[in-house]
Amino acid sequence: MVYSKITKPMQAALVADMKEVLQAGTHPPIDQLHGMMQYHMGWLDKNLEPDNAPAGKQIRPLLTMLCAQAAGGDWTQAIPAASAIELTHNFSLIHDDIEDDSPTRRGRDTLWTIFGIPLAINAGDGMFAAARVALGRLEDRGVPAETIVRAFRRFDDTCLKLTQGQDLDMSFETRQDVNVDEYVRMITGKTSVLLSLCAELGALIGQQSADTVQNYHQFGLNLGLAFQVLDDILGIWGDEETIGKSATTDISTRKKTLPILFGLENSPKLANIYFDTSIPEAEFVPEVVGLLDGCGAQEYAQKRAADYSDLALSHLEAAGGAGEAGQALHELTHMLLGRKS
Ligand code: IPE
Ligand code: IPE
Ligand code: MG
Ligand code: MG
Repeated sequence: MVYSKITKPMQAALVADMKEVLQAGTHPPIDQLHGMMQYHMGWLDKNLEPDNAPAGKQIRPLLTMLCAQAAGGDWTQAIPAASAIELTHNFSLIHDDIEDDSPTRRGRDTLWTIFGIPLAINAGDGMFAAARVALGRLEDRGVPAETIVRAFRRFDDTCLKLTQGQDLDMSFETRQDVNVDEYVRMITGKTSVLLSLCAELGALIGQQSADTVQNYHQFGLNLGLAFQVLDDILGIWGDEETIGKSATTDISTRKKTLPILFGLENSPKLANIYFDTSIPEAEFVPEVVGLLDGCGAQEYAQKRAADYSDLALSHLEAAGGAGEAGQALHELTHMLLGRKS
């Protein structure tokens, strides 16, 4: 596979750059804040001793660097943008785990369960600030000033939309009348806009025309929608060991994920019990899963993910992504549709 070959040096460069930005070069860490951020990244254990724990799939930064190359640019110029996006993703996960009351992430205890919520919120804020520091380093790679200004504007706008998406996601927990259009708006915010930024910044740094940049943006946006629908599936039917996080909390917190919305429409029994908070969790979760299985909710969601993935590929085609990087983007899109983690 071209993907594995081409992304290896990209991944190594990304990690090295993020380690610089998060000042991970000293032991012990320079302070507790940096230690906490490095714990979340998998570089330190909970005692802030060196570790080499899973750091996530890193598909967002790889998208950025692949799109920069596919758009005819030099992927190394895109490293600061790739770091900025991965740090933003990690900031959002630190806060998301608090917001969702999630005990595990990437197979380890979440930051807030170890250090408490106040310090974890602050570490998430630190990670967000570090993301902007990373983005500013585009200047050191010779990226033109006007491209950097554009990148910052798109970055800030995206972060605002992401927090709007998170607001909707949490608000939906206590609502009984969420429809699929609202769901799509919510996942566009919480997940897709960041993936679309990945592709867009890559193309911008590759100095592409506005039309081409827009096609990369749409490629990332639809890939992000497919990605989140698959995450919804894994959040119910995934193997906890493989996904590294809970496969019951989406149901127990009454999230309105796509399979659930389909189930509420198509299983009267599910519609009857889903809002009943008196059923003990140990009974409730398997019963909901059984009802979702019975009405074909997983197949429905998988089909919707495949449709978004096809749309993503058509925009990639239109963007004209070239060479090995273009091929790797195709491979990545197909791989994500069958992902198990
Ligand atoms: C998890 O994202 C959060 C979502 C937007 C679904 P990833 O599945 O990319 O998480 P990591 O970084 O690989 O752990
Ligand atoms: C992912 O949220 C989106 C962000 C973190 C911005 P989820 O809550 O759906 O993802 P997981 O299941 O915790 O990874
Ligand atoms: Mg969430
Ligand atoms: Mg969550």
